[in-house]
Amino acid sequence: MVDLSVKIGDVEMANPVTPASGAFSWEYADVIDLNRLGGLVAKTICKEPRLGNPTPRMAETEAGIIQSIGLPGKGIEYFIDHIVPEYKKFTPPLIVSVSSESTEEFAELARDLSIPGVDVIECNISCPTRNTTGGNFAMQSEHTKEVVSAIRAATDKPLWAKLSPNAGDIVSIAMAAEEAGADCLVIANTFLSLKIRTDNFRPALGNKFGGLVSPALKPIVLRMVYQVAKQVSIPVIGIGGVTKAEDVVEYMLAGASAVGIGYAGFRNPTALTAIIDDLEAWCDDRGIKKVTELIGAIKDDDMEMDTLTAASSGV
Ligand SMILES: Cc1cc2nc3c(=O)[nH]c(=O)nc-3n(C[C@H](O)[C@H](O)[C@H](O)COP(=O)(O)O)c2cc1C
Repeated sequence: MVDLSVKIGDVEMANPVTPASGAFSWEYADVIDLNRLGGLVAKTICKEPRLGNPTPRMAETEAGIIQSIGLPGKGIEYFIDHIVPEYKKFTPPLIVSVSSESTEEFAELARDLSIPGVDVIECNISCPTRNTTGGNFAMQSEHTKEVVSAIRAATDKPLWAKLSPNAGDIVSIAMAAEEAGADCLVIANTFLSLKIRTDNFRPALGNKFGGLVSPALKPIVLRMVYQVAKQVSIPVIGIGGVTKAEDVVEYMLAGASAVGIGYAGFRNPTALTAIIDDLEAWCDDRGIKKVTELIGAIKDDDMEMDTLTAASSGV
């Protein structure tokens, strides 16, 4: 039987399938065995309690949902006292996601969360819906470098940086995050989007813009993962449109060491464990002994790279 275990730096995971931040909670334990997951990824937490964005926060489109939740939460104190213990009832590593509008506060959050129960700090420097313009650190290399360096200096925990698919050149952002000391790159957050109601001509979401999540985005994020994985030496986690085991395989062939799953878990909370089962069967059917054999195993050495070079160069 295939060995599904993967390592993200020093973090050992039983398999490469994790939930995506914000699309999961420990309450999924009512439906699936959380001990089967590669990791447990908590909803992004901010320093102070936040109500989140005005409603409506979700709207359906032909190609998935756009959402603008706005990181509601009860703040870091509540998180440490009440939510970390809930997650620690389970064995997979706990990945805690943090966000802030300032570099200093990002560093403070990382310092405060450097406690025994937390295994990884994921800095969400890419939430497209924190404010109405969708601005975030991960749009620019300098901002990424500054904030990741500050967080790195504040914690010895493994540090993962979640990047934005909205950045013009995600490869330079990824390289800036690596240079600043990130241990892993999580690619990607959601695509900034707009839906307009034709009955009243108003934006469908209370925050106007939202992040699009859809299986349709997988080929785009897959391309980003491929491009980034070629350029950095730290692990990459692919997130975007994973709905089946073959999607995990594709992300790994492109260079990802693991994947995150949001949308599929909304549609069917048992999707995560079903995908782990299917991945195991997929590997066994093909005689793959270790799932890590798939990482970066795309066969494209003999192919022209001109299109990729053109697509990745700045204007
Ligand atoms: C309702 C909802 C809430 C989300 N909240 C967060 C969040 O708090 N932090 C974060 O980093 N990403 C958040 N995301 C983005 C997901 O983690 C993930 O990057 C995105 O949904 C793409 O993956 P998917 O195609 O598998 O859904 C959220 C996504 C959704 C749909």
